[in-house]
Amino acid sequence: MTHRILILGGTTEARQLAGKLAARASVTLSLAGRTESPVAQGVPVRTGGFGGAEGLAAYLQETGIDLLIDATHPYAARISANAAQAARVAGVPIVALRRPGWEPVEGDRWTQVDIVSDAVQALGPAPRRAFLALGRQEVAAFEAAPQHHYLIRSVDAVEPKLAVPDAHYLLARGPFREAEERALLEEHRIDIVVSKNSGGDATYGKIAAARALGIEVVMVRRPALPDVPSAETVEALAAIVNQFGADHLL
Ligand SMILES: NC(=O)c1ccc[n+]([C@@H]2O[C@H](COP(=O)([O-])OP(=O)(O)OC[C@H]3O[C@@H](n4cnc5c(N)ncnc54)[C@H](OP(=O)(O)O)[C@@H]3O)[C@@H](O)[C@H]2O)c1
Repeated sequence: MTHRILILGGTTEARQLAGKLAARASVTLSLAGRTESPVAQGVPVRTGGFGGAEGLAAYLQETGIDLLIDATHPYAARISANAAQAARVAGVPIVALRRPGWEPVEGDRWTQVDIVSDAVQALGPAPRRAFLALGRQEVAAFEAAPQHHYLIRSVDAVEPKLAVPDAHYLLARGPFREAEERALLEEHRIDIVVSKNSGGDATYGKIAAARALGIEVVMVRRPALPDVPSAETVEALAAIVNQFGADHLL
C-alpha cells in the first residue's frame, strides 16, 4: 500500500522534499495561496487555508493521510500550531522540517527584536536608508516611521503601496547571492537592513553583505513553534519518513 503524505509547504525545502518522497508515497503539497504565481511544485498541489486546526484535522481524516509534514516557513507560526493540534486531534503522526536559524558571527552588527513593530522602533527617530527584506504583509508596519527611506523587496507587489513619502520597490525571488546583495546595498546607499532570521543559504547573502559593508541589521527573532518531532534538513527528514514507512509497513 502506498502511504499518503500531506506536506504543508510554501518553502523551497517543502518542494524539494515533495520531489524526494513522490517516488515512494502519494504526496500532496499544500500551499496557502499567498503567492500569485508560485513556482511549479512537481507533485499534486492543493491551495488555500483549511479553516484552522479543526479544518485541517477533518481534511487529514477525510483524505486518509498517514503522515503530516510541516515544512512551512519558520515565521508561519499559526499554520505550524494548527498542524500540531490537528495531528493530535486526528491521531496522525507529524514531523516538522525546522531549518536552523542564523547565528551572529564576528563582524555582524545585529539588533535582535521579537516582532516587526519593534523593528520599526529599532530604526530610531533620525532618517535612515533601510532595506526591508520582509514579506508584503509585514512592511505595512513601517508606515509608523515615515521619516526613513525604504527599499522594499518582495516576491509579489506591495499593494497598496506604503503611505510613506520615500519608498522604492523591487520584485524578486531568491536565492540572492552575497555579491549581488552587496551591489544592491551600495547602489541604494543602505545603512540598515531589516530581516527575519530565516536560516538557510538562499537569503543569507544580504546578511553576509551587510557584515562586509559594516551595515547594521535589525533581526526579527523567530516566533515560538510547537514541540513536535523534527529534522533540520530535507535529507534528514526524508530518512525519518522512510523509516516511518518501513515501521508501519506502508
Ligand atoms: N511568514 C513568512 O515569512 C513566510 C516566508 C516564506 C514563505 N511562507 C509561506 O507562506 C505561507 C503563509 O505564511 P504565513 O506566515 O501567512 O502563515 P501563518 O500565519 O502561519 O498561517 C495563516 C493561515 O494561512 C493558512 N496556511 C498557511 N500555510 C498554509 C499551507 N502550507 N497550506 C494551507 N494553508 C496554509 C492557514 O489557514 P487556515 O487556518 O484557514 O488553515 C493558516 O492559519 C506558509 O505556507 C509559509 O510556509 C511564509
